[in-house]
Amino acid sequence: MSAVSLPRSPQRLRRALLGAACLMAAGVARAARPAVLLRLSHVVAPDTPKGQMAQRFQALVHQRAGGRIRVEVHPDSSLWGDDDEMEALRLGAVEMLAPSLSKFGMAGVPEFEVFDLPYLFADLAQVRRVTQGDVGRELLQRLGRQQMLGLGFLDNGFKQMSAPRPLRAPSDYRGLRVRVQASRVLGEQMRALGAQAVVLPFAETQRALATGVVDAAENPLSNFLTQGLAALQPHLTLTQHGYLGYAVVTHPRFWASLSPGDRELLEAALAEALAHGNRLAAALDAQALATLQRTPDLQVHSLAADERATLRRHLQPVFDGFQRSFGPSLLRDVQRAVDGRS
Ligand code: SIN
Repeated sequence: MSAVSLPRSPQRLRRALLGAACLMAAGVARAARPAVLLRLSHVVAPDTPKGQMAQRFQALVHQRAGGRIRVEVHPDSSLWGDDDEMEALRLGAVEMLAPSLSKFGMAGVPEFEVFDLPYLFADLAQVRRVTQGDVGRELLQRLGRQQMLGLGFLDNGFKQMSAPRPLRAPSDYRGLRVRVQASRVLGEQMRALGAQAVVLPFAETQRALATGVVDAAENPLSNFLTQGLAALQPHLTLTQHGYLGYAVVTHPRFWASLSPGDRELLEAALAEALAHGNRLAAALDAQALATLQRTPDLQVHSLAADERATLRRHLQPVFDGFQRSFGPSLLRDVQRAVDGRS
């Protein structure tokens, strides 16, 4: 991955963009260019459901567009990271993102934090009844409020807890500093367990764990494995306490600038790539678990049914508190979809 130093504040981002625009206007970038350049930036490793989805999308578009459309995939926060990717999308410095659903709350669409509610979903089939149905469509439309066009959902999987000790009982969390994504629900969840929630961009998690800025983290297994966190966290407890998935978004201005034919081509390629990523998600999760279970110096702990039930009971007030803040209909609709009643 190229070690480019990237601007991390909106002002620096604007200055950098202005500089790039001036260079282009001066005719510096004269190489033959495709008619459409689509930069897809994301924060995880290539060998994850999102990384694989992005590569499949790129391959399909290049196969079908005959050089007219170029897709650049920038993984591992190498172009933009959690702090600046949505601003970059608004400013036209990237054309496609796939942030985790937890990150849309702070971007002004708090309804997406419903996916963070502890133990909302029992399995991926339940998640898909929400994301692939009317509720999912309606949620994607709400992204329009923040100048984003939602194009589809992608699964990663269920989050597990890593820490310097096994986390079998709620009291085991007490006093831990836990890295979380910037979601109100995730912050509340850690506070309910007596832990301190520390919001950090994904790209900083590894270093924060290595340097003791945080003690613990919650991740789906493919992220835990590909970020090398097994070397830093001796205990991984399979809590399965929450879901982590993504929405692929673009900017309406970019989408409107495409010809109808190109738009159709991109939509079809993305639908196939998302189906590919969703098919892979469970398999990558299982593969990661098998690898982690064989990893020396890492102990993987399963929770017994009663331990899981205790954790769930402990987190129920978080669920109930946010039920009120989401308003009466969203959670009702989500739960109907989960139960297959809509
Ligand atoms: C991701 O999977 O995109 C990163 C999630 C996180 O920030 O923990």
